[in-house]
Amino acid sequence: MVNDFVTINDVGPRDGLQNDPTTVTVEDRVRLITALVDAGVPAVEAASFVSPRAVPKMAGATELFAALDQGKAELSALVPNRKGYEMARSAGARSIAVVLSATDTMNRKNINMTLDETISTCTDIMQQANVDGLLARAYISVAVECPFEGLVSPDVVERLAEQMFRHGAQECIIADTIGAANPAQVKILFGRLVKSFETARLSAHFHDTRAMALANIWQAVESGVRKFDASIGGLGGCPFAPGAAGNVATEDVVYMLEQAGLDTGINMNKLMRCVDLVESMVSHPAGGRTRAYQLKQIAG
Ligand code: COA
Ligand code: ZN
Repeated sequence: MVNDFVTINDVGPRDGLQNDPTTVTVEDRVRLITALVDAGVPAVEAASFVSPRAVPKMAGATELFAALDQGKAELSALVPNRKGYEMARSAGARSIAVVLSATDTMNRKNINMTLDETISTCTDIMQQANVDGLLARAYISVAVECPFEGLVSPDVVERLAEQMFRHGAQECIIADTIGAANPAQVKILFGRLVKSFETARLSAHFHDTRAMALANIWQAVESGVRKFDASIGGLGGCPFAPGAAGNVATEDVVYMLEQAGLDTGINMNKLMRCVDLVESMVSHPAGGRTRAYQLKQIAG
């Protein structure tokens, strides 16, 4: 393949822990992020600046950013509204992500705004981030299927991405929030997006609800995408999207890509220790299929 480096953005500390039954302390979240960065993960979504009433597990984002070393990796913060943006900027975040769902109902359920209100909120935040010198990224959620409105047309996703890029997004992350996509849909969607936009500014985010995530990632790689979200230990889900099970496990994605001759820059042994670490922090078993394989090897 022409470009064999794939950038992994670990969203476990945000997308993973926001939905976990366990409340993980700020101190432990800092330990986890630090361990991921030490394993060579180049980007981590560290927290979200959201209402603690809406998402109690993400409380403490300001303290978290104060304790993080942002010199070694891109550590980003999800911000749903202007208040969240101001808080992230004050906390010293250098990279933010806005969240725009492709359907009206999903925006209302997630952030209590219509689609149009969300578009204008996102563009306002990203333009401010551009002025403030922060990296601005835009999630386009439920980009294949919405749990409330059903299938989403690639036309809609393309139009929203175009608006986000035009209004200050340096990157768009196309998210299959409920893990409903199949590789044929991914081929059509990303086949279009890579023609319309710079591939280096596209990223993909897949949940593994129906065991399609690795196949979808591979299809997106074939389409030219070289940046993916994944979640350490496969933690995750969205509290506002029924059916959004765990994210694809970072260790499985890294294993697949490295085995296939692509380079992530991530140390697999250290990454597996991050799986152990995150499992010690939550109250249930964690880890993708790669971990089960490794444990079996150890057990002999
Ligand atoms: N961070 C912290 N608190 C916030 C906030 C933010 N970004 N935005 C609003 N608030 C507070 C307000 O100050 C207000 O507090 P008060 O009742 O003590 O005065 C309260 O939340 C309600 O504010 P309002 O503007 O009316 O918000 P809302 O009730 O319409 O909720 C969101 C909108 C966006 C704040 C809320 O839906 C949310 O946080 N959603 C997060 C969704 C999410 O994280 N999804 C998963 C990732 S995609
Ligand atoms: Zn997600």
